[in-house]
Amino acid sequence: MNHLDAAEEEHLARLTAADADSDERAVEAALRPRSLAEVVGQHRVREQLGLVLDAARARGRAPDHVLLSGPPGLGKTTLAMIIAGELGAPLRLTSGPAITHAGDLAAILSGLQEGDVLFVDEIHRMSRAAEEMLYMAMEDFRVDVVIGKGPGATAIPLEIPSFTLVGATTRAGLLPGPLRDRFGFTAHLEFYEPAELDQIVHRSAGLLEVRLTDEGSREIASRSRGTPRIANRLLRRVRDYAQVRADGVVSHDVARKALELYEVDASGLDRLDRGVLDALCRRFGGGPVGLSTLAVAVGEERETVEEVAEPFLVRLGLLARTPRGRVATATAWRHLGLTAPATAFGGAPGEATLFEE
Ligand SMILES: Nc1ncnc2c1ncn2[C@@H]1O[C@H](COP(=O)(O)OP(=O)(O)O)[C@@H](O)[C@H]1O
Ligand SMILES: [Mg+2]
Repeated sequence: MNHLDAAEEEHLARLTAADADSDERAVEAALRPRSLAEVVGQHRVREQLGLVLDAARARGRAPDHVLLSGPPGLGKTTLAMIIAGELGAPLRLTSGPAITHAGDLAAILSGLQEGDVLFVDEIHRMSRAAEEMLYMAMEDFRVDVVIGKGPGATAIPLEIPSFTLVGATTRAGLLPGPLRDRFGFTAHLEFYEPAELDQIVHRSAGLLEVRLTDEGSREIASRSRGTPRIANRLLRRVRDYAQVRADGVVSHDVARKALELYEVDASGLDRLDRGVLDALCRRFGGGPVGLSTLAVAVGEERETVEEVAEPFLVRLGLLARTPRGRVATATAWRHLGLTAPATAFGGAPGEATLFEE
């Protein structure tokens, strides 16, 4: 794995800032698996990506462009770094929001060297003009740089070295078709199983020299919202508790008490998740309610509700997305300690098909 210098690490930190705070960045960097073999879970993605990389290495050529999609904290940035590491190629980092003009992208592309891996985080947030330039660069390793304005403008073709683009997005569906089609390989990251998170917690505890019992680890894993970033975060918070209020060992009891203190519930729902469910049930009678209305009710961006909170709530069977809006399931009502109305989605057997999207 090539090491990132401080500036790159800082840059990367900003890219993940929505979900990782400053104290977290350094720790995350230390906890990141450095090779495919070290990656826990995501078996299918790991195997497929391994093949793509092996084949490229065997041919001595840059591999196809790779698109990584999935909710925050599941390992997109980690995999991008691993791809570069496994290819022994430098990783260049940027993000969609940083590319506001085609010129920004042209500057990045023309600075690439043969075989570089270019990581564009949040690629769905790039400007339209830049997207169009990117299609051409991905396919023909060439961009047209437009000089001047109006009728006198001329396009100067510029050759760029062959590179591998790794794009990350929380929603592959938000990418325009032509851009999506130019990725030779798309990996969708899924939430992790508790047993996999358990493995991650043990691994991180080893690296951070935290003493923990198997039961303590399982308790953290089961409340981590299917997300490695959260598992690592909870581990550190529980360690604090263990050091201050106990003998330093993360036991089952210590983990449970600490997580209660930090308001992580037994299903791992965080404050936003609960806020969404709460608004849905208490304010909107269980729905259906439109995404925008729901977002306003919890004081969050539409995108955050849709891309961060909802995937996990859907996965737990607490929320359903229907053509008429979001609805709370009977399980959601029960989760909040409320009585589900008889009409609640999932309240009667066989009802699910009625609301299927
Ligand atoms: N498969 C995995 N195995 C072990 N740790 C992981 C895995 N995926 C993610 N992590 C950990 O979770 C943290 C967040 O991962 P990251 O790649 O930054 O997520 P994303 O870019 O998808 O938001 C990383 O610091 C890493 O330590
Ligand atoms: Mg990331």
